[in-house]
Amino acid sequence: MMPGIMASCWPFYFVLHLLLLPPDQNVFGCPARCDCVPQLRTVFCHRKHMTSVPDGIPSETRLLDLSKNRIRCLNPGELSPYPLLEEVDLSENIISTIEPGAFANLFNLQTLRLKGNQLKLLPTGVFSKLSNLTLLDISENKIVILLDFMFQDLRNLKNLEVGDNDLLYISQKAFYGLVGLKKLTVEKCNLTSISAESLSYLPGLQILIVRHLGTNYLEEQNFQKLYSLKVLELDCWPFLEDVCSTAFLGLNLTSLSITYTNLTIVPAVALRSLVYLEYLNLSYNPIKVIHRGSFRDLVRLKELHMAGASLTTVDSQALYGLRQIRLLNVSNNLLSTLEENVFQSVNTLETLRVDANPLVCDCRLLWILQRRKTLNFDHHQPICASPAEIQGNALHDFPDSILFEYFTCQKPKIRDRKLQYITAHEGQPVSIHCRADGDPVPMIVWVSPQRRMITTRSVGRSTVLPQGTLEIRYAQVQDSGTYICIATNAGGNDTYFATLTVKGENSPYSNRTLYLSEYNETFHNDTHVFFKFTLDLKTILVSTAMGCITFLGVVLFCFLLLFVWSRGRGQHKNNFSVEYSFRKIDGPTSAAGQGGARKFNMKMI
Ligand SMILES: *[C@@H]1O[C@H](CO)[C@@H](O)[C@H](O)[C@H]1NC(C)=O
Ligand SMILES: *[C@@H]1O[C@H](CO)[C@@H](O)[C@H](O)[C@H]1NC(C)=O
Ligand SMILES: *[C@@H]1O[C@H](CO)[C@@H](O)[C@H](O)[C@H]1NC(C)=O
Ligand SMILES: *[C@@H]1O[C@H](CO)[C@@H](O)[C@H](O)[C@H]1NC(C)=O
Ligand SMILES: *[C@@H]1O[C@H](CO)[C@@H](O)[C@H](O)[C@H]1NC(C)=O
Ligand SMILES: *[C@@H]1O[C@H](CO)[C@@H](O)[C@H](O)[C@H]1NC(C)=O
Ligand SMILES: *[C@@H]1O[C@H](CO)[C@@H](O)[C@H](O)[C@H]1NC(C)=O
Ligand SMILES: *[C@@H]1O[C@H](CO)[C@@H](O)[C@H](O)[C@H]1NC(C)=O
Ligand SMILES: *[C@@H]1O[C@H](CO)[C@@H](O)[C@H](O)[C@H]1NC(C)=O
Ligand SMILES: *[C@@H]1O[C@H](CO)[C@@H](O)[C@H](O)[C@H]1NC(C)=O
Repeated sequence: MMPGIMASCWPFYFVLHLLLLPPDQNVFGCPARCDCVPQLRTVFCHRKHMTSVPDGIPSETRLLDLSKNRIRCLNPGELSPYPLLEEVDLSENIISTIEPGAFANLFNLQTLRLKGNQLKLLPTGVFSKLSNLTLLDISENKIVILLDFMFQDLRNLKNLEVGDNDLLYISQKAFYGLVGLKKLTVEKCNLTSISAESLSYLPGLQILIVRHLGTNYLEEQNFQKLYSLKVLELDCWPFLEDVCSTAFLGLNLTSLSITYTNLTIVPAVALRSLVYLEYLNLSYNPIKVIHRGSFRDLVRLKELHMAGASLTTVDSQALYGLRQIRLLNVSNNLLSTLEENVFQSVNTLETLRVDANPLVCDCRLLWILQRRKTLNFDHHQPICASPAEIQGNALHDFPDSILFEYFTCQKPKIRDRKLQYITAHEGQPVSIHCRADGDPVPMIVWVSPQRRMITTRSVGRSTVLPQGTLEIRYAQVQDSGTYICIATNAGGNDTYFATLTVKGENSPYSNRTLYLSEYNETFHNDTHVFFKFTLDLKTILVSTAMGCITFLGVVLFCFLLLFVWSRGRGQHKNNFSVEYSFRKIDGPTSAAGQGGARKFNMKMI
């Protein structure tokens, strides 16, 4: 009890009591200034400048609406004379305190709205015995903490709204007793997490909405005990960058939204267990690419929304597995195309939103054109951004007769097809060119003599440069053989062969050699090159790391001797790493120094 507040409240109560003498209590009376519907036993005192609960409320009232008044506190027993109340609306008053017992005797209460008041703390016991309550709204207050057991008698509560409070902490047992809760909304709080233990008291929860949270991670198995959860909405978590792979373990969701976060990739692994998912909304996350197979286990998914997500690429087979997809919403992204091979089958697709993307209208979009009469674009037609002649035209407006005039692709054609025989010495870098023309710009991959695919994403000694040139750093004898260049685009492909011979002996490069086997450049950046050497002294081969620096070999050789020596002394190590960094030096000494203005720092790690 808070005597100060009680004291300030009672005078008002008495003044009103005197002013509003009980009206004629015929069948169903009505307090002054209020509107009542006797048949429905409802009393509406909405926005009547009241400072306390008015007198003259019929005792058989079912619904009491006191919203938008100036009520400041609720005293114990104040509503007890109306035991048949089923719904009480006290939203948007200025209530700062509710004493335990304020709702005593209201055994029939089903709905209690306390939204938009000034409540800071709800003492345990305020809601005791309200076992018929199904909806409780305490959102838009100033509540800082939810205490243990504060809802413990509310075993029939189905819907709890605690949004937009200053919540800092939800005590571990705060939700204890809420066995019937079906929907929980927590939003705009200063919570940094919502713990797995507090959620574990909600075995019946079906819908969980958590919006505007400042956390950057999801606990592992955060939702594991929510056996009944079907709908999970995580919205506006600006710091969330990663969803760990077990975050959704134990859940059997049908609907999942993760929107307005800082996620940059589809959380493919976490999604894999959600095989009953039908609706997925990943809109407004900074995701650039949908990789192949990102949703491959979501066999029942019907709707996928990724609007406003900075998508530039949807890989081929990105939506494989989505056998029942009916709606795809990728509007408002940076896609230049959306190919048919993205889908396992487009036959199930009914609605497609691909508007507000810089679409290139070539043969890759023909599949949409061919379906433009049956596909539902939700009143947002896709519009061509290029080529220039048809820029700004909606796909819907093209007559069949001119389709094949515009929506065309040009098959790749490799330039300069002269067969190349290339000879190189071991350790030398090798470049083999393959330039192709075509529309859209062809993608170039190479196939090695060992039938290994080399692409621009390959790491290691061989890689493909953006223009299509195959680059082998430090060629080795086993690299010899025939290389195939394949240029592909939606229009077709073109191939081309080149033969490489790598000579091993008497290499002119041996003048700055280093006798080591099997080096492996593991990492490099602008100023550092890191090598990792695996020693095998039987096979000695020639290698040069940095073409232009002649005494690197000598220095490395010293390290090698040190290494062999350390092995001799029983410190068994089968490999060692050398960090090599060069730095610029300025001033007069630089001109005189060997190899120009460069110096080395080396250390054995
Ligand atoms: C819930 O309300 C019903 C009438 O609607 C009443 O009969 C019952 O006693 C109430 N339950 C409790 C636990 O008070
Ligand atoms: C919660 O965060 C908002 C904005 O970040 C801030 O204005 C408010 O003071 C915070 N409340 C508490 C209780 O920390
Ligand atoms: C989101 O991520 C980007 C880069 O990963 C970072 O620069 C930015 O600060 C992050 N935003 C927030 C709100 O954490
Ligand atoms: C998951 O939910 C679906 C319906 O949403 C239900 O048919 C299925 O039995 C549930 N599976 C498990 C393991 O609970
Ligand atoms: C997907 O989430 C965004 C952001 O929360 C929302 O605006 C949009 O309405 C959602 N999409 C659908 C179809 O509900
Ligand atoms: C597609 O996403 C946008 C943005 O979230 C939304 O406004 C729109 O309703 C969605 N369209 C459909 C058909 O779901
Ligand atoms: C370099 O070594 C790492 C392991 O240390 C290995 O994964 C990688 O494939 C090697 N790279 C090359 C080009 O051999
Ligand atoms: C190249 O095109 C031919 C048909 O023109 C096709 O059979 C073949 O599979 C294609 N190869 C690649 C790698 O795309
Ligand atoms: C030694 O290497 C240099 C390049 O640094 C090269 O010009 C020269 O021909 C090589 N010498 C021999 C004998 O191969
Ligand atoms: C290169 O790597 C070294 C060691 O990790 C680091 O100190 C240096 O800042 C890096 N340089 C650049 C340009 O990233």
